[in-house]
Amino acid sequence: MKRAALLLALSILALACRDEQTVPVVEEQEQSAAARDPHSFSRPDEVRVEHIVLDLGVDFAKKQLAGTATLRVRNETNAKTLVLDTNGLAIRRVTINNAPVQFKLDAAHPILGSALEIPVDANTQNVTIEYATSPTARALQWLEPAMTAGKKHPFLLSQSQAILARSWVPCQDTPGVRFTYDATIRVPKELLAVMSAENPQARNEEGVYRFSMKQPIPSYLLAIAAGDLEFRPFDTRSGVYAEPQVIERAAAEFSDTPKMMQAAEELYGPYRWDRYDLLVLPPSFPYGGMENPRLTFLTPTVLAGDKSLVSLIAHELAHSWSGNLVTNATWNDFWLNEGFTTYFEHRITEKLYGREYSEMLWLLGMTEVKEELATLPAADQALAVDFSKRDPDEVPGIVYEKGALFLRLLEETAGRERWDQFLRAYFDKFAFEPMTNAIFENHLKTALPDVVQKVDINQWIHGPGLPANVPQPKSEAFTRVEQQAKAFADGGSVDAIQAEKWSSHERVHFIQSLPALPVEKMAALDGRFHFTDSGNNEVLSAWLEKSLDARYQGAYPAIERFLTTQGRRKFLKPLYEKLAKNPEDLAFARRIYEKARPTYHPVSQATIDEIVGVPQSR
Ligand code: BES
Ligand code: ZN
Repeated sequence: MKRAALLLALSILALACRDEQTVPVVEEQEQSAAARDPHSFSRPDEVRVEHIVLDLGVDFAKKQLAGTATLRVRNETNAKTLVLDTNGLAIRRVTINNAPVQFKLDAAHPILGSALEIPVDANTQNVTIEYATSPTARALQWLEPAMTAGKKHPFLLSQSQAILARSWVPCQDTPGVRFTYDATIRVPKELLAVMSAENPQARNEEGVYRFSMKQPIPSYLLAIAAGDLEFRPFDTRSGVYAEPQVIERAAAEFSDTPKMMQAAEELYGPYRWDRYDLLVLPPSFPYGGMENPRLTFLTPTVLAGDKSLVSLIAHELAHSWSGNLVTNATWNDFWLNEGFTTYFEHRITEKLYGREYSEMLWLLGMTEVKEELATLPAADQALAVDFSKRDPDEVPGIVYEKGALFLRLLEETAGRERWDQFLRAYFDKFAFEPMTNAIFENHLKTALPDVVQKVDINQWIHGPGLPANVPQPKSEAFTRVEQQAKAFADGGSVDAIQAEKWSSHERVHFIQSLPALPVEKMAALDGRFHFTDSGNNEVLSAWLEKSLDARYQGAYPAIERFLTTQGRRKFLKPLYEKLAKNPEDLAFARRIYEKARPTYHPVSQATIDEIVGVPQSR
């Protein structure tokens, strides 16, 4: 059938932009495209990108990547147009078989960017796009030397999930499309470049690095970084990259990585990506971790010195199955990535550090969900959220732990052995394929009909809140912590708190279990436990949040320090939100943000702009 015959109508897709205005986007909608990703202009059902060859120069002075992307396409429907996603890209030339073609770059949508339309025909195989990125490309952060550990060399890092790959590579930027890629990257000679691909382990004289990713990946897993990096192996298939000043600490902190890989493989089958390396980034990285294939990107804020925060590695490693192998088809299916991964993370943690330990992490997760649920409208409390009209980078975090709890309920109902068999088979059957809520539900009903009968899966996936049959993780250690918190809040002395053997998780739980306290009590706790000076960033962040609830001035200098020395969105957002609650604190927040904003990644900037406003002097 001809495309024109399928054309239903021109419909207006109104997408809420950042400041809540709506910006209409005219989109051709077709019957066959009903399942298209609402966050991509591309039409992979017509013509599909199968392989990308990048050839890019990294220019720190211009804050620009420039060069070519050659896309090998398969056009089985005789489509006339290849539509790509771009955001802020300057397109210089498009050629097919060395001949320039007339392309069209549409007006920009505030969230989705601009569709790039390229004329193709049934014989088109390779399309070459000559382009340059914008200095404000939303995936990229260009760090001045002052923002690195070494203070001598600049640093470049990327964050493509959810829909930011299009700001540095023209592509079909939807997780429903997979491609392999090769790349040639030119960097200043003092720097090493790495990607989500087969990586070099040392610098070379030329500053030219070649990469190859042989397993097909979705665009959100495209990643690049360049800096003064060193490599240290853990064993023959894993190791860590970091700046020389950090490499020692990083290698010690994450030395359990090989054991985690082994545990993960014992649970859900072979690791399919050859190597698994870590990259420890400067503190402005906006996330805790990002599961870029073969090379997890990590915040240095988990370098606690005692391995207490390494469940983050278990999480990113688990994505090598849930997410990177079986991939959410659109961002409305996001919980299939993150809920599965959080469940898997807890299972790896249990295998390595024991049940008592993993139960504490389950409970910390539960506190998080409950707090976030209290702030969300019912429609945003489902696992299958509808984010079609919003920025997928703002999907509520509850899908992580709510999703994990749902899978734990399925495990408890099926029995662990049967459930593990189910999951292992699931990863095998759907490896390298997109997964939707509908496919998952059907598969579950077919594979475990009796389990589905006992559990109201519809309520879990599509309903709000935590259903009544939610599993109840148990930790005696945490129960004791809660008793101590209560006794202290009820008037007990700070010296009576029995905290000698508390792990950092117990400290976090203690702080989170406290009701709003008067300033004197906060000061008493600080006097004894020195929370304000904690070197554990989870403890510190929990304490600083509590301090803002109490408006405990003793912590304000530490709040300023924390907000100006790292850019992890999860740590920034709640503090700025609390500061925005009264005029005095808001003025303090604005002063800090004016200074800190240029040091944050665009992802964090976008979130904090919404909370305190964009500084005037920007
Ligand atoms: N894939 C996510 C990060 C992400 C999600 C980036 C959505 C952009 C859009 C990553 O695996 C993740 O979940 N990171 C968490 C850590 C985890 C232990 C909860 C984070 O960064 O806090
Ligand atoms: Zn994750």
